[in-house]
Amino acid sequence: MRLFIAILLPETVKEELCRRRDLIEHYAIRENGTKTENLHLTLAFLGDVTQKEKLLKIKTAISRLCSEPFSFVLSGLGRFMGKGEGLYFNDLLPCPSLLQLQKELVQSLEQEGFILEKRKFKPHLTLSRRTVLRPEEEELLLNRYFPPMKVPVNEICLMKSERVGGKLVYSKLYGKVLLSHAAKQEE
Ligand code: 2AM
Repeated sequence: MRLFIAILLPETVKEELCRRRDLIEHYAIRENGTKTENLHLTLAFLGDVTQKEKLLKIKTAISRLCSEPFSFVLSGLGRFMGKGEGLYFNDLLPCPSLLQLQKELVQSLEQEGFILEKRKFKPHLTLSRRTVLRPEEEELLLNRYFPPMKVPVNEICLMKSERVGGKLVYSKLYGKVLLSHAAKQEE
């Protein structure tokens, strides 16, 4: 089972991200846009996990998180460049709470014996992979102003990724709801 840990997005946010993805598609020579239902923010990629015992450990690591709910803010578009093609994403304004949550998650997974990629975490929302844009429009798009949009974070989800009939399908296996300090005291 291919697993990753993510923040899922409210419908209104996904609708806005779709508009931005469609703009990328409009200016693309080649694109592979993220399906609306698959839009998410990855916190950690776990890869193939086969043993049940490991799955339990992942759930334990997530359930231990004690971050409180917070929000991040969507900014404009960004790009990771590869060989002649790019991954286009929606960027975020700097968000210390998100970085802290991801750090806490990595430490919690390490405590359960998982070794994750050492690559520095760069929060992003993937809109289109393996994409080539027409050069004259690319700079315009990357510099375009998009009104900031606030995204609430209340839950951290363990996700399964699989191909079903050639289609990439993500499904939630487990969710940890983040509780405010006050709610924790009431528990
Ligand atoms: P992304 O976060 O850039 O979109 C499921 O595959 C999710 O895990 C995707 O959202 C994907 O990329 C992220 N991911 C991170 N590292 C990955 C890797 N080495 N291979 C595949 N997916 C990875």
